[in-house]
Amino acid sequence: MDLAELMRSRRPCVVLTGAGISTESGIPDFRSPSGIWAQYDPMEYATISAFRRDPAKVWEFYALRFEALSRAEPNAGHLALAELERGGFVRAVVTQNIDGLHTRAGSADVIEVHGSIRTASCPACGERMALADLVEALGDDPAPGCARCGEILKPDVVMFGELLPVGALERAQQLVRTAGMLLVVGSSLEVYPVAALPDEALAAGASLAIVNQAPTPYDGLAEVRVDGPAGATLAALAEALASP
Ligand code: APR
Repeated sequence: MDLAELMRSRRPCVVLTGAGISTESGIPDFRSPSGIWAQYDPMEYATISAFRRDPAKVWEFYALRFEALSRAEPNAGHLALAELERGGFVRAVVTQNIDGLHTRAGSADVIEVHGSIRTASCPACGERMALADLVEALGDDPAPGCARCGEILKPDVVMFGELLPVGALERAQQLVRTAGMLLVVGSSLEVYPVAALPDEALAAGASLAIVNQAPTPYDGLAEVRVDGPAGATLAALAEALASP
């Protein structure tokens, strides 16, 4: 069975995306040879304890990334998923990405389980600020403080060692348990708890399909496995499903 046939017969589908869907928008992923973790040690830049130890260093790392992230445009893969949602094939997109590109591409139901680059919050008083405003000032102030209480703000992205936003994770779990099919796009499926979602989908009787340019631990359990670029693969899928 090919991907289009599977999606036609098993809809509604829930899609789980990772960094690999945004590489064609110019945003590097994490675990490819050219990925972010090949250059930066995640223990130094992406854990909550690293942030508490040296917030300015972690803010510097994010400031570099925010610039690339905010310049990026949705690609054919994001656009195809939005079209598949409008066509009734996709119920929702669960994403590990913080780039906001699914929403910008027109997907209406997007669950951001690792947060987003839209805002930063104060760990002390809860004040929330738009990140774009902070990034502009970052040159002068390497670790921006809360306008209300002065505490150093934290970007609203989930760092290693932090819990995922409870509501988002619960919604993602509920969605995959009631889906006919889970389609994973551009994720190594190595980071938990998100990497448990395919297991939850399979346990509830859903079909699993994976579009990823490198092996994943779930490949043997997938009914359809495409080792190709997300953009062209999803565009072809949306085109195949556009005709009755
Ligand atoms: N098409 C298909 N697959 C691609 C493409 C592409 N154009 N580009 C990259 N890939 C694949 C890579 O081969 C890789 O297997 O996407 C996968 C991305 O995996 P990761 O880099 O591990 O990204 P992700 O799974 O999203 O990481 C999960 O780890 O560090 C954290 O918080 C970060 O949310 C992230 C989490």
